[in-house]
Amino acid sequence: MRKYFIAGNWKMHKTASEAVALATELVKELKGGPNKYMIAPSFTALDAVSKVVKGTNILLGAQNMSTDEQGAHTGEVSVLQLKDLGVQVVILGHSERRHIYKEDDAMINKKVKLALSHGLEVVLCVGELLEERESGKAEKVCEEQTRKGLAGVSAADLKKVTIAYEPVWAIGTGKTATPEDADAIHAFIRKVIADMYGKAAADEMIIQYGGSMKAENAAALLAKENIDGGLIGGAALKADTFKPIALCK
Ligand code: PGA
Repeated sequence: MRKYFIAGNWKMHKTASEAVALATELVKELKGGPNKYMIAPSFTALDAVSKVVKGTNILLGAQNMSTDEQGAHTGEVSVLQLKDLGVQVVILGHSERRHIYKEDDAMINKKVKLALSHGLEVVLCVGELLEERESGKAEKVCEEQTRKGLAGVSAADLKKVTIAYEPVWAIGTGKTATPEDADAIHAFIRKVIADMYGKAAADEMIIQYGGSMKAENAAALLAKENIDGGLIGGAALKADTFKPIALCK
């Protein structure tokens, strides 16, 4: 049985004090909750939120990190700096990084391997653009992003990887993939993992859905065989909207 992994991606929202307030509420509300949890505040709030979630059932996530361990990389944040703040998970390859900031698969793969080599868990995001879906390329895009993102990752390290399927056209738009459409892509990604690492690894792989997931549609999405959690943006910004998703069983 795969356990649901419900994660909040707070994106570029909240000051440190606002982030602490939300994290404090979530620690209280999700205590003893049935699922695995993570919240990913902005870099500027990681230190403060780290102190709030330490020792609770909520993992601390970062939204990105540099391809390099340290050095002349103005404006970047390194894996060593994240670990120093108590970060346990890093989101990599988010569509906003791929499409706005032009991160390619090679760069994302470098980050994935670096994070894993330092013992961080990784949430690797994959997903197609609207025009790719409309031209029948959704599977091809997800397969390529999965294979290239995981290139060189060992079977042992794969255990620390979660895949988030986030169709780009559903992110922040209010449009959700239907549970059936999402499940079909999740099943397909699982087949790709089986081809790369074998059936047992594929059966264990947690594949989150992301893209306008909210209280109203979460239960139907999570009821699908291959949907094992959610990476939630908008609805993760308030305890009232995140909690009903986080408590889904
Ligand atoms: P959304 O964002 O829930 O606001 O659509 C999801 C994500 O981009 O991780």
